[in-house]
Amino acid sequence: MIKIAPSILSASLLDLKNEVISVDQAGVEYIHIDIMDGHYVPNITFGSNIVKQLRSITKKTLDVHLMISPVYKFIEEFIHAGADIISFHPEADPEPGKVINLIQKLNCKVGIAIHPKVQVVDVLKYLHLIDIVVVMTVVPGFGGQKFIYDQIKKIALLNEIKHNKKLMFEIEIDGGINKETAKICKEKGANVLVAGSYIYGSSKNEYKKLIESLR
Ligand code: DX5
Ligand code: ZN
Repeated sequence: MIKIAPSILSASLLDLKNEVISVDQAGVEYIHIDIMDGHYVPNITFGSNIVKQLRSITKKTLDVHLMISPVYKFIEEFIHAGADIISFHPEADPEPGKVINLIQKLNCKVGIAIHPKVQVVDVLKYLHLIDIVVVMTVVPGFGGQKFIYDQIKKIALLNEIKHNKKLMFEIEIDGGINKETAKICKEKGANVLVAGSYIYGSSKNEYKKLIESLR
């Protein structure tokens, strides 16, 4: 089953409540929330306050993607705000193992996000510990960028490792997802697709159709 995770980065912030309710009612599984700190990435977005507010209007899985450095000291507040999944970039914290432990101790799902310049071999040691891997198919920082085709091989490799080692992690793809790139990702073994501008770049009455086109 393919899960769709609209990224609120491209939603209308003045209308965020309705933007999220619209995709919720259109049947998405996850709501993807991009947290950027202007330090790990050259852009600033939201803090844990947005997670807390969205928690009060949807029961869907809140999929929090941290693009911040360091990571550890912010984990507790995002979990208390209501995150269901927290993914982070391991190179953004001096002790990624401790971050994983903390997220799990607080009963939250944990993910590792792979920056285009990070290789699968660099995250191998975490794969048996985590719930989800986020393969970045754009350089993190902004919505609406072009899909980097070169990253596709990581999806196939992760899928192979997952089956060979009988691991359980989900494979989520983040960046440049549209109808065409979604198809390629699914063929390679992805099961969660993040989509920001593809969905939120259109008007509300198109959302359901666009979401279905990714499945
Ligand atoms: C990029 C973010 C993505 C972004 C995707 O740094 O992690 O989640 O919102 O946006 P699109 O789907 O427009 O590439
Ligand atoms: Zn993201």
